[in-house]
Amino acid sequence: MQNQRVLVLDFGGQYNQLIARRVRECNVYCEVKPHSMTIDEIKAYDPIGIIFTGGPQSVYAAGSPQVDPKIFELGIPVLGICYGCQLMAHYLGGEVTAAQSDTAREYGKTPTFFDTDCRLFKGLPEESVTWMSHGDYMAKVPESFRLVAHSAACPTVGICDEARGFYGVQFHPEVNHTEYGQKMLHNFLYEVCGAKGDWTMGDYMRASIESIRAKVGDGKVLLALSGGVDSSVAAALLAEAVGNQLTCIFVDHGLMRKDEGDEVEAAFKNWDINFIRVNAQDRFLSKLAGVSEPEAKRKIIGEEFIRVFEDEGKKIGSVDYLAQGTIYPDVIESGTNVAAVIKSHHNVGGLPDFVDFKEIIEPLRLLFKDEVRTLGRELGLPEYLVMRQPFPGPGLAIRVIGDITKEKLDILREADFIFRDEIAKAHLEGTMNQYFAVLTNMRSVGVMGDGRTYDYTLALRSVTTTDFMTADWARIPYDVLDKVSVRIVNEVKDINRIVYDITSKPPATIEWE
Ligand code: XMP
Repeated sequence: MQNQRVLVLDFGGQYNQLIARRVRECNVYCEVKPHSMTIDEIKAYDPIGIIFTGGPQSVYAAGSPQVDPKIFELGIPVLGICYGCQLMAHYLGGEVTAAQSDTAREYGKTPTFFDTDCRLFKGLPEESVTWMSHGDYMAKVPESFRLVAHSAACPTVGICDEARGFYGVQFHPEVNHTEYGQKMLHNFLYEVCGAKGDWTMGDYMRASIESIRAKVGDGKVLLALSGGVDSSVAAALLAEAVGNQLTCIFVDHGLMRKDEGDEVEAAFKNWDINFIRVNAQDRFLSKLAGVSEPEAKRKIIGEEFIRVFEDEGKKIGSVDYLAQGTIYPDVIESGTNVAAVIKSHHNVGGLPDFVDFKEIIEPLRLLFKDEVRTLGRELGLPEYLVMRQPFPGPGLAIRVIGDITKEKLDILREADFIFRDEIAKAHLEGTMNQYFAVLTNMRSVGVMGDGRTYDYTLALRSVTTTDFMTADWARIPYDVLDKVSVRIVNEVKDINRIVYDITSKPPATIEWE
């Protein structure tokens, strides 16, 4: 049975993914699709509601994103957000103009007043804060609509035509700064669209297991397992679905954190699957010997990974399906990503072309990261795997600055372990999104006991971020930093100085290389 679904039509706004996440948090399935979707495609998709996202353009500007106006004749409720609201007004007989500088243009947190008779605002206070970001505004509201929200600067913040199920808001309900934004989306879904709340991870898990079984039959599936959250959850799902028809190849490149390889292996031991751990440390280290340029390191590791994977794949032979842990943000971003390459990311799921696979299976393709974690829990993966912070494919190779040796990797592993251990003891894991140590290639003079030392400087890095595209350095309490510093210089030979990285991204990046 198919879940009820909501269609989020993308007009290029910066919060589009967030809208989809918020809808799913209300237990309603939704997908983000391009605004150019045709009426027939929309009908075939059969949504219970449609949400128009915001966007950077003006609805009257040449070339601005539009929809087929027949969308308003489908009998499906529509919620327009910001640009989406203006677009709806524009098509249905309203008027949208550029706000004059001192009138209705708004940016930031804005006290807003609501008519709580409107179903969108049912059960909400009559005044609350919303997040605005608009230069245009509706000078005239379409005829069948009534005004249901306003602010001091803008008389037309919210409109509705309840008979047809059309609602529009100038602010962004999906952003946390809008106090009751989630409740408004909930109202749209449940009060207007008739949502039943049938999107749960337990159901999703059972449905995907069935569909994987139906597709794979008695074929063989190969999965590259990195130990990261996405590939681990994909592995666990496939393990449930096809058991020992699945082979997971875990390439331990010797660039993992302390005990990480053993942890990954232990987590998958209980499943009835073929698990191959390839200890390829020597292979990787010899290829990396003497290389210090960051991009060169990344390329060597990416290439070598594929070679190891190829070698193992050949041993298994006649594999029908290749499985990957691709998740929904990767799918959405790959459609529009024209950004400059800052670092060439090496994804362990990179596609080798050595075997003629019948098909690629991507069982997490429609899930957000938090949904992937929930699914992982449903499948019984241990919490430390499910909540694992991101770890780059090239591993510690890009956290040892300069050339890489086994000795330097061991020093870094110990220091990084102590840092993570102290963060856990201080119960600070939930306050930061990624934290790790970097072994700089710099040595400096110190004094220990009565003697001179000339050892490495270790850098600690910890960031808070929601999307990893921008980040701030985490304000770790001084006493915790102090404990980490004292322990590392005492317990790890060859380190005599600790520094804490206090740069945000941009201008720095999260990793040092
Ligand atoms: P940067 O250093 O670019 O990192 O600010 C952003 C996020 O991406 C992770 N990262 C990688 N992940 N393969 C990955 O799978 C890579 O090559 C890679 N390089 C960086 C980084 O840890 C951070 O979370």
